[in-house]
Amino acid sequence: MDTSQPLSLLGGLSPDQFMKRHWHKKPLLIRQAIPDFQPLLSRAELMGLAAQEEVESRLVVRQPQGWTLKQGPFAKKALPPFKQAGWTVLVQGVDLHDESVHQLAQQFRFVPDARMDDLMISYATDGGGVGPHFDSYDVFLLQAQGQRRWRIGRQKDLTLEDGVPLKILAHFEPEQEFILNPGDMLYLPPLYAHDGDAIGECMTYSMGFRAPRAGELARELLAGLAEEAVDAVGDQVYRDPRQPAVTQAGAVPAALQAFASSAVQKALQDPQLLDCLLGEYLTEPKPQVWFEAQTERALNWPQAVVLDRRTRMMHDAHHIFINGESFKAGGRDAQLLRRLSDDRRLDALAVARLTPEALELLSAWCDDGWMHPEEPV
Ligand code: SIN
Ligand code: CO
Repeated sequence: MDTSQPLSLLGGLSPDQFMKRHWHKKPLLIRQAIPDFQPLLSRAELMGLAAQEEVESRLVVRQPQGWTLKQGPFAKKALPPFKQAGWTVLVQGVDLHDESVHQLAQQFRFVPDARMDDLMISYATDGGGVGPHFDSYDVFLLQAQGQRRWRIGRQKDLTLEDGVPLKILAHFEPEQEFILNPGDMLYLPPLYAHDGDAIGECMTYSMGFRAPRAGELARELLAGLAEEAVDAVGDQVYRDPRQPAVTQAGAVPAALQAFASSAVQKALQDPQLLDCLLGEYLTEPKPQVWFEAQTERALNWPQAVVLDRRTRMMHDAHHIFINGESFKAGGRDAQLLRRLSDDRRLDALAVARLTPEALELLSAWCDDGWMHPEEPV
């Protein structure tokens, strides 16, 4: 993608301009971001997903006596009638389950994959919505079907209502209001208050992003470091030839504290190890994701390959990361595998240039269902 070229998806801004002016900073309303947009899933197909065990879904009902929230899956009969106003079903991770939704999500790859979370689809009857709230993450809200009235505000008071099963702002102060039609899109930065009410039946697609918290990253990386620690730090034994006789035998020797601290410092000193653990963490598939092994299919190298839509693949200067695993790669292999990660596809000519070792990896990934030989067109 040439990030300097204007995109109608971004209302004529280039990805460079959008990231500089709006991303993480201020909202953007884009009329006809996708002209003549047609929903990619029918209501029945979406409800079919909401009925599945491995799909994360929620039902929010607005009633005079207050809000109710239920977690899926939802058999058809468990949902309120479609003619009842004021309810909504939200289905997470539809990009993992549907190829056309996955392709739509690909249009947002001017943002690093490491920041992508998932594409959620909500269906609402008239007046349905999840109430005034804020999200911790950036979001693009694409209107897919029907109309929705969005009211938004950049308020500082993020106090939530007490005793409600959802995150509802106690004092919502909208500053702007827009009615979105199919194909229109609203970008909101994190913590921006918003409330979307369905006007008649409506479907909204939310392209959501994730941003790790410092504490969570420290916990994950330190857990990974703990496993590698003996190799990284070595087996040196604490020695204390200068230990004087003590009168307080219970006191931990300062030299032992320094020895422990230096052992931990050593474990942290290998920057490549931390980067490697980070890449593995970022590419870890979500818990509900599984791959179908493809051992029956004969591979016929060289042929073009495409990543499975559920595969998370990234890279850094020294490693290739795929679905929670890391591989050291250098030279031409590294260059080609980085291309596979960026384009999610590698053509047959490029595959032919891989070393036998790299081809073996590709074969294993195809067997695991992480990628597929491209169907001839
Ligand atoms: C919705 O689609 O109803 C909610 C999306 C959001 O506010 O983040
Ligand atoms: Co929201």
